[in-house]
Amino acid sequence: MPSLNDIRSTFLDYFNRNGHTVVDSSPLVPRNDPTLMFTNSGMVQFKNCFTGVEKRDYVRATTAQKCVRAGGKHNDLDNVGYTARHHTFFEMLGNFSFGDYFKEGAINFAWELLTKDFGLPKDKLLVTVYHTDDEAAEIWKKVTGFADHKIIRIATKDNFWQMGPTGPCGPCTEIFYDHGEHIWGGPPGSADEDGDRFIEIWNNVFMQNEQFEDGSMIELEMQSIDTGMGLERIGALLQGKHDNYDTDLMRSLIEASAHLTSNDPDGPGKVHHRVVADHLRSTSFLIADGVMPSNEGRGYVLRRIMRRAMRHLNMLGTRDVSMYKLVPALVRQMGNAYPELTRAQNLIEETLRLEETKFRTTLERGLKLLDEELSELPEGADLPGPVAFKLYDTYGFPLDLTQDALREKGLAVDVAGFDDAMEEQRAKARAHWAGSGEAADAKIWFELAEQHGATEFLGYDGEVAEGQILAIVKDGAAIGSSDEVKGATLNIVVNQTPFYAESGGQVGDQGWIRTDTGLAKVIDTRKIAGIVLHVAEIVEGAVAKGQPAKLELDHTRRQAIRANHSATHLLNEALRAHLGDHVAQRGSLNAADRLRFDFAHSKALSPEELAAVEAEVNGYIRQNGAVETRLMSPNDARALGAQALFGEKYGEEVRVVSMGRQSGSGKGNDGNTYSIELCGGTHVRNLGEVGAFVLLSDSASSSGVRRIEALTGAAAMAHMAQQARLLADVAAVLKVPAPDLADRAKSLLDERKKLENEVAQLRRELAMGGKSGGPEAKEINGIKFIAQVLNGVSGKDLPGLIDEMKARLGSGAVLLIADTGAKPAVAAGVTADLTDRLSAVTLVKAAAEALGGKGGGGRPDMAQAGGADISLADQAIAAAEAAMGA
Ligand code: ALA
Repeated sequence: MPSLNDIRSTFLDYFNRNGHTVVDSSPLVPRNDPTLMFTNSGMVQFKNCFTGVEKRDYVRATTAQKCVRAGGKHNDLDNVGYTARHHTFFEMLGNFSFGDYFKEGAINFAWELLTKDFGLPKDKLLVTVYHTDDEAAEIWKKVTGFADHKIIRIATKDNFWQMGPTGPCGPCTEIFYDHGEHIWGGPPGSADEDGDRFIEIWNNVFMQNEQFEDGSMIELEMQSIDTGMGLERIGALLQGKHDNYDTDLMRSLIEASAHLTSNDPDGPGKVHHRVVADHLRSTSFLIADGVMPSNEGRGYVLRRIMRRAMRHLNMLGTRDVSMYKLVPALVRQMGNAYPELTRAQNLIEETLRLEETKFRTTLERGLKLLDEELSELPEGADLPGPVAFKLYDTYGFPLDLTQDALREKGLAVDVAGFDDAMEEQRAKARAHWAGSGEAADAKIWFELAEQHGATEFLGYDGEVAEGQILAIVKDGAAIGSSDEVKGATLNIVVNQTPFYAESGGQVGDQGWIRTDTGLAKVIDTRKIAGIVLHVAEIVEGAVAKGQPAKLELDHTRRQAIRANHSATHLLNEALRAHLGDHVAQRGSLNAADRLRFDFAHSKALSPEELAAVEAEVNGYIRQNGAVETRLMSPNDARALGAQALFGEKYGEEVRVVSMGRQSGSGKGNDGNTYSIELCGGTHVRNLGEVGAFVLLSDSASSSGVRRIEALTGAAAMAHMAQQARLLADVAAVLKVPAPDLADRAKSLLDERKKLENEVAQLRRELAMGGKSGGPEAKEINGIKFIAQVLNGVSGKDLPGLIDEMKARLGSGAVLLIADTGAKPAVAAGVTADLTDRLSAVTLVKAAAEALGGKGGGGRPDMAQAGGADISLADQAIAAAEAAMGA
């Protein structure tokens, strides 16, 4: 019996043999669609290939595509567990032709694969075609030899396939399998078609139209093929089962659920096991593709599915957090075909554990409340809306979970009453923020948040996405089109975006928003009340509210920001490792061109410390380990040793980013993780992408806080290259190899010092007329007196010269005037034997005054002063002589 894994391979191999390129499944969150919630069929990733907008280097493709149908146009959530063929997650096998083969080719391939490779008996098969599609009917007749009653014409939308409200579409032909008379049901189109006898196994769509939002539909130039076959259905058929949940893969998950809950897989808990098995797949694959539980958008659909499974586990008698224990069973089954599942196993387990821990704190009480309310309801009445709302608001029961619980009892919820209660709560919130003192121009953001919910961020995994423009805001007011305010800077709001809004020290992204009619350059991205504002300038045409838009961020810039952000985490840890645990983050900036990190530490880092920190960060970069992100409760994060910002408020769930391996001495569950931090920012996937890390400076930022600036990646390389060039330039000038530069510079400085001293000495000697020369001494009042004007010496040379002159005189008085080129300086000296008769201060004062200066001071044996005008030097000497009594 072929396993589902075998059947998947047979399908892909068959089409590969027939010239089709095997393409990987695209993620469950579509990047190429503005409004589609989840990838719901194989054609989503090829949507633009059918319309001719996108060209690939192949025209035939085949895939096994992960699909989720919960929320949005195709929503199967409510039926899962109760029917044989509904799933929230399933795999769609498909073959595609983009303007290559059409109806005939598709029908031939389908027939050959089913009847030859899969070996299905021809007489068990029958087909439908769109009622006007004579061509398809003819081809089927020719290929199969079917009688007319086995080629059924259907006039409804069952045979006209559309992905969503807009996009490529076309008539289709569906292939059915007849399980035989012993099962109730009629052929498609008959009154009994809903029975289980005739099962659709494959849909082949003839893509030839495109549907637009205004309801119009055009014929496409290209004629293409899109097919979809649910692996679970064909699997059941080929394994001789009638129920998708009896296939080997689903059965193994059901048995894992039975084992975990110590229940009979086929006993009274059968429905619960099926819900658990299905929801385990959808939740795990969604988390692996980057969706995280939240109260809005995709995250809320995920939460609804998770909580539904958790309630069914509860009904199976489990009282502990347990859903996460089923993940290994799923990874064993599907990890080979979908390696992302294996890679994300930790993340999936921790996300499920956290969600169930939270939900279990209210689940029992909520169920009790529900029972009490039900016991008081009149027979068959709907559960009142306010009760369902209380279950939602206080106990975390999504509406469909309550509906699911009631369905088992044949009851329903008063949905209108639920909606009213929800609206009442919103009105209260509105009144609250209206009075919260927010600036008037903030009002619009709160209104948008209320109307549309928070903007969904797709930028952890991708840098391009399609979204729909929800609003264009200028100065706090919404406008319809950028045309209304030409040349201005606008805020563009889109339902989903890959642009990161500035927060946590990481700068906002830049990039482009393009619509059919215009191009906007995004210069910054910010966030208010959960709404992401793309601050933009229109560079071409105009963009308008309601338009689908392609959002693309500046990849190079984001790459540099990512590298800086991851390096900041490594730096934080390296500083703690080398300086001590007191190092706590005080602020950071992760820009495109550099990173800055402020931290508590009281003194400058030594060159050795700086070198050690830099080397450690670079070591982890070279290790090139994966950067892991998980979602958990703040307490769990702290238990792992995660670094959190002091004083920061964290919600119920925090993103935890881990990086670097440190065998045996690290943090985390395994004790091997180097850095664990709470962080909402974007990071590299593998540390090697940081490239290189260079410390630029360490300085004091404020008291007790140091600031480090550093570079990574290309900026670090450019900086190092520039340093090397500088060094080479200097080495060339000094004519030594670079390693000898320091010695050479030192010896040059020593030599210069020595020469300076010699020059000063020579200058003094020269000024005084050589070693023994110089002016003759006069005798005034019995005291020898020398006075001299010196060129090219400075005031500070004078005391040394005075001492020298005094030594030459033996006994006497000296007056020296320095002609400095600027203001003259004057000094006087009297030998010690004469100071009781004459003071140097008297001499210098007299001379300084004559020089146009003032004051003067010192000791009786040596005094100094400043003058104003060197041309008065003779008068100054005369004044000094007069002071000596000449
Ligand atoms: N896109 C088609 C479907 O999902 C094949 O049924």
